[in-house]
Amino acid sequence: MERYSKILDKDKREIVLLIGNGCKWSKCKFCNYHLDRNNVEEEQFKINNEILNKVTGEFQVLEAINSGSIFELNKRSFGKLLEVCIKKNVKRLIIESHYMYKKQIEELRNKCKELNIQLQVKGGVETFNADFREKVLNKGFGYPTIEELKKVFDVVNLLVGVQGQTIEQIENDINIGIQNFDRVCVNVYKEMDDIMPADEELKSRFIKEIYSKYKDYENVDILIENTDFGVG
Ligand SMILES: C[S@@+](CC[C@H](N)C(=O)[O-])C[C@H]1O[C@@H](n2cnc3c(N)ncnc32)[C@H](O)[C@@H]1O
Ligand code: SF4
Repeated sequence: MERYSKILDKDKREIVLLIGNGCKWSKCKFCNYHLDRNNVEEEQFKINNEILNKVTGEFQVLEAINSGSIFELNKRSFGKLLEVCIKKNVKRLIIESHYMYKKQIEELRNKCKELNIQLQVKGGVETFNADFREKVLNKGFGYPTIEELKKVFDVVNLLVGVQGQTIEQIENDINIGIQNFDRVCVNVYKEMDDIMPADEELKSRFIKEIYSKYKDYENVDILIENTDFGVG
């Protein structure tokens, strides 16, 4: 598994895929990334320390993800992440989190402000169709409004190509994302063991009909393969 990379297209940044204690929710029907976990403190820190030591700070922007939410890193690993940001003069830190951590997100924003680091929080909204998100994807967000989501997230992850979605829904989600958030990250769904089926025809239609319209937007990242950022 690759855990360090540089994103040289659009918003240039270093990216690290850390390992955490495991996603506390772990119930999204489309996700098995949460299997990447290690809650033995020494082992987790050893892996994360090695990855974080690769960060150079060359773009002053670091994206740190962990197959869950950032609050699921152990204390030592989290401390190392902030230490590296300070040492390497990282001015903007991008992290991922589930909506259930909104209180901790607020606290982390304040902490980062004190350290002169801008925090950008990326949330797995997946779709703005809240019924689909809850009843089909089982995301566990409840029913926050877009205004409420905007208070917590700066960047949204959208999911494209699960069964039950329509092409109209996908384009509508991208547009709502662009209009309301700093960035949109579109993840083309990869079916794996024990998760819900993909709609391969819908994925092909997305690539043919929608991908080319948005691929050059500065504020839109489209991951056709889940390893397109170079980690995973
Ligand atoms: C693994 S989650 C981690 C962040 C956090 N737990 C959350 O849900 O917001 C990050 C994103 O990965 C994407 N993802 C999860 N499973 C996927 C799959 N099988 N194929 C493509 N993208 C996937 C989803 O868009 C999800 O929001
Ligand atoms: S998408 Fe995020 S919240 Fe849902 S199971 Fe995967 S890691 Fe956990």
